[in-house]
Amino acid sequence: METTHRLFVDDSRDLRAVADDSVELVVTSPPYPMIEMWDDLFADLDPAISSELESGNGQAAFEAMHTQLDQVWDELERVLVDGGIACINVGDATRSLEDSFRVYPNHARVTEAFEDRGFDPLPDILWRKPTNSAAKFMGSGMIPPNAYVTLEHEYVLIFRNGGDRRAFEPGADRRYEAAYFWEERNRWFTDVWTDVKGELQGLEGVPDDVRERSGAYPLEIPYRLLCMYSAYGDTVLDPFWGTGTTTLAAMCAGRNSIGYELEDTFLEVFEDRIDDIGTLSRSVGRTRLERHREFVDRRRADGDDLGYEAVNYETPVMTKMESEVLFREVESVNRTDSGYAVEHVPLETRN
Ligand SMILES: C[S@@+](CC[C@H](N)C(=O)[O-])C[C@H]1O[C@@H](n2cnc3c(N)ncnc32)[C@H](O)[C@@H]1O
Repeated sequence: METTHRLFVDDSRDLRAVADDSVELVVTSPPYPMIEMWDDLFADLDPAISSELESGNGQAAFEAMHTQLDQVWDELERVLVDGGIACINVGDATRSLEDSFRVYPNHARVTEAFEDRGFDPLPDILWRKPTNSAAKFMGSGMIPPNAYVTLEHEYVLIFRNGGDRRAFEPGADRRYEAAYFWEERNRWFTDVWTDVKGELQGLEGVPDDVRERSGAYPLEIPYRLLCMYSAYGDTVLDPFWGTGTTTLAAMCAGRNSIGYELEDTFLEVFEDRIDDIGTLSRSVGRTRLERHREFVDRRRADGDDLGYEAVNYETPVMTKMESEVLFREVESVNRTDSGYAVEHVPLETRN
């Protein structure tokens, strides 16, 4: 099986190279409005943003930054198939301007923008990020009432393009082979994620300084979302591609991808990240199988049996829907004019 990964060093406010209704899933994390690290980027897109910030007009700057993102959301409505899903990872921002501290609710403004464009909001995920900080306050310390709650979560907002679910041909193999395990369903489809700790980060190949500069998310975020909301053969688009974590996840998950990124230096970072993509994709698949086998052992220790046998792996599964699950590993990657072509083979589980 081959997948293609198209990359554009270009502005995603105009996605003219992407055909109407040609993408099944969007997974992305935009620059977060009112977070200082993205001020210069937003000011390049609209110079009026600098003057609003300098004059202390936080609300006007917030709105002007979102107006830039809105232009990308306009394009998503066009390129996503009916019933296609958009997953937007975004955090709120806290900021003091002119000595006035407040929160800028990015998640609420993005939700409004998608609703205005005909998307239906679906239940979202609150991603509770691991933190080392023991000091749970901002502001005036131990004296009420002027301390503030610290923000230690981000959102994964989920929207469906239009009111209808995607339709598939009956018995579609590409859907059944892309099944997830019962216990993964229970963990992934919970509305608070506390277990994304970036465990694979050592393998993911983003140096810490680049992670800081790019706002890269851990591979586990796009990988899970790809498994939850797409099937083999589908294409995922990331209009704010950064260091390419979404494409890396798509390569591991055996989906096609398209990425747009303004900063061309991130492409070199990505070249390094896919150096060892064969090993990474194997490790991701094997880890899922190992965790599943641990789950089977725990069930059996509790005296519960599982009802079905997997067809492609030596393991029982809970439901018939999981029985055809088939992981894929990357066998080879070739550079093409528009990005990469990747050859996948069924995951080899011996040795
Ligand atoms: C939060 S980062 C994404 C990080 C990415 N998820 C990763 O794991 O590396 C947002 C990215 O969007 C890019 N960007 C912002 N506006 C853009 C636009 N209009 N078109 C294309 N890329 C844009 C920025 O350069 C930045 O790399």
